Amino acid sequence: MPASPSPLLLALREGTLACHQSLEARLPFFDAGFDTAAYSRLLQAYYGFHAPLEACLGAYQEPLRAKTPALTQDLQALKLSAREIDTLPLCQALPAIRDEASALGVMYVLEGSTLGGQVLKRAMAERLGLGPTSGAGFLDVYGALTGRYWRDFLDRLGQASTAPAAQAATVRAAVDTFESFERWLGQCRVLNPVRIS
Ligand code: HEM
Repeated sequence: MPASPSPLLLALREGTLACHQSLEARLPFFDAGFDTAAYSRLLQAYYGFHAPLEACLGAYQEPLRAKTPALTQDLQALKLSAREIDTLPLCQALPAIRDEASALGVMYVLEGSTLGGQVLKRAMAERLGLGPTSGAGFLDVYGALTGRYWRDFLDRLGQASTAPAAQAATVRAAVDTFESFERWLGQCRVLNPVRIS
């Protein structure tokens, strides 16, 4: 039986639900005209966020969770040169990582995206013919270990400080991560416009 969600996980889900919906609605993966060139531009923008953010996570993140190497390999498979990858623009306005509490909030977003990645992996294989060695490795970065890594991360969340200030800092960092990612992707012009309903 899976353990029931920790209060911190419930707070993260509730606190970031609207952020996830906003970003998902603007990402172009399922657009009619989305092609490999647009996918490559999107992945370049992902790199510009993940590479500097993972560097900031430093020792808070176990090395086996690094996702920048998969993004680099994907961009190489999509025919970017090492020099082009090294000179991609990098996001400067990153969420602040001050302590374990804020690192956990950032990691919740990055780790959770491996779950949505399972949906995107299948869609990009069907629509663009991309697979793990031809440009879509990042979408399935943990492969068969996706479920295990997510549960291990949830264990770490379950052991986090239960102090209200620490839990609030984790949720704040997760919201900041979603917001700065969406802002960055918007600046890179790879998102659809916000729809006003
Ligand atoms: C079109 C793009 C996306 C789709 C279709 C998508 C879809 C999903 C789906 C289906 C889940 C639930 C998976 C499950 O419970 O097994 C999920 C969870 C999640 N996604 Fe996304 N996602 C997308 C983009 C993103 C992005 C870009 C991020 C962050 C950078 C993200 C962060 C998360 C997080 C944090 C969760 C975990 C929620 C939880 O269980 O607590 N997603 N996504």
